[in-house]
Amino acid sequence: MKRIIIQFGGTGDLALKKLYPAYEHLMDLGFEFTVLALGRRFKDRAEFLKTMVSPKASQEFKSHLQYMHYDMADPEAIGPLRSHIQAIIGEAEQAELIYYMALQPSLYEEAIHQIQEVDSLISCQCILDKKIVVEKPFGFDLESSLRYNEILLQAFSDKEIYRIDHYLGKEFMQNLLILRFHNDIIRSIWDNRSIESIQIIFDETHGVDQRLGFYEQIGVVRDTIQNHIMQIITYLTMNEPATLSPEDIAIEKVKVLRSIAPVSEFHTGRYESLGANSGRIVHTPTYAALKLAVNTYYFADVPIYIRTGKMQEKAKSLIYIKFRNTTGKVMHDETIVENGVIITIHPELTIDISMNLKEPNTSWKSKPVRFRFNQAETFGANTPEAYEQIIKKILQGDKSLFPTMREITEAWRIVAPMLEPEHPMEVYPVRTLPRFANELAQENGFTWFD
Ligand SMILES: NC(=O)c1ccc[n+]([C@@H]2O[C@H](COP(=O)([O-])OP(=O)(O)OC[C@H]3O[C@@H](n4cnc5c(N)ncnc54)[C@H](OP(=O)(O)O)[C@@H]3O)[C@@H](O)[C@H]2O)c1
Repeated sequence: MKRIIIQFGGTGDLALKKLYPAYEHLMDLGFEFTVLALGRRFKDRAEFLKTMVSPKASQEFKSHLQYMHYDMADPEAIGPLRSHIQAIIGEAEQAELIYYMALQPSLYEEAIHQIQEVDSLISCQCILDKKIVVEKPFGFDLESSLRYNEILLQAFSDKEIYRIDHYLGKEFMQNLLILRFHNDIIRSIWDNRSIESIQIIFDETHGVDQRLGFYEQIGVVRDTIQNHIMQIITYLTMNEPATLSPEDIAIEKVKVLRSIAPVSEFHTGRYESLGANSGRIVHTPTYAALKLAVNTYYFADVPIYIRTGKMQEKAKSLIYIKFRNTTGKVMHDETIVENGVIITIHPELTIDISMNLKEPNTSWKSKPVRFRFNQAETFGANTPEAYEQIIKKILQGDKSLFPTMREITEAWRIVAPMLEPEHPMEVYPVRTLPRFANELAQENGFTWFD
């Protein structure tokens, strides 16, 4: 079978850093496909290869990587694109076209129309299958996501549409489900009788000035909260699915999202120098902190505190599950600290369980200690990259790592109030936490797990 990935945004940051390395590795593993990269910035394939592909890349990969100068604004461009795809299909008896949209959301609608047109023009005597892959965020808001979906459904069935949230390809996400549903000791303590609160912290050191044109239309809510953070919350709080099939997992995830109450505590800020290189002030939120609640039988009254954003002093991604400290109260002993589960994603993937155990040479005195699982130490450093897992699933036609449209629309509903333009925006100096993050902690009587 001839399989062709038609890469819209084939000259972009995502393609360079994530997709091409993943394609190369998958080809090394024996997957067979051709990539047709589309973009405007290089006039020909030689120029494209020089910038977009490492000189160390394998010959096998390079020989399956083609480039075509393609400007979506040019109404004449569709004809040559059709001919190029047709030429790659050649005399194949069976072919599969995978249209991959790695573009900024404002271009999706036009891209979908062009894909529909190209697709309708392609003809062959062969068995021809197709798929379409859409990068996150799927849409710009609730209304546009529904509109894009409607247009997509005119040319593709839902089964053929892969909506990406690459966090679902990350090992820690899949491990969350295994941790929760393959361990009886965890299952029996994972609810509001034992858990007091949850923190999700995603701090990044880099800014967005390199990708300002893209980011200024997006902001932190569309970039991370609507997708990655909502997916993490579903994995942390959903009930056990009937099986680990994509359909059964999706049913439970939707229940969580539908039970999330309107968010009342939400704050945003932007770092001081945002847009400085462009010589203008850019009012796009680069940091947010919020509190939300999952109003299900098992998680009602467990506050979930989230903070995420750019230009912080330290890169840190972690989830902290804090357990109730009944023992400390009963024993009237403040040195007994709460138990906790700490899932660290960055700088390395670890899961810690914090317990109190006896300190030697003391009389019944305990000290918090951690039991640690370290992914790299236990399984070696060969955990596949998220994008590799995601693309492998697309090639295999397995939708287990992709959010459904229902999940996406529920997530847009939840974040809609956060996208209102009238939110006050704090301007924070680079490498500092915005004041509102600490105020959120003070007002709610908790301390960030720093
Ligand atoms: N970058 C990441 O690490 C990352 C991670 C996860 C998800 N994503 C998602 O991936 C998508 C793309 O992000 P990105 O960072 O790769 O953006 P980017 O670096 O700004 O790339 C945008 C791409 O769109 C192409 N493009 C823009 N206008 C075009 C036109 N009129 N005709 C043809 N091509 C056009 C650009 O091609 P030319 O400039 O050559 O014209 C370029 O290849 C977004 O949805 C983003 O949310 C990105």
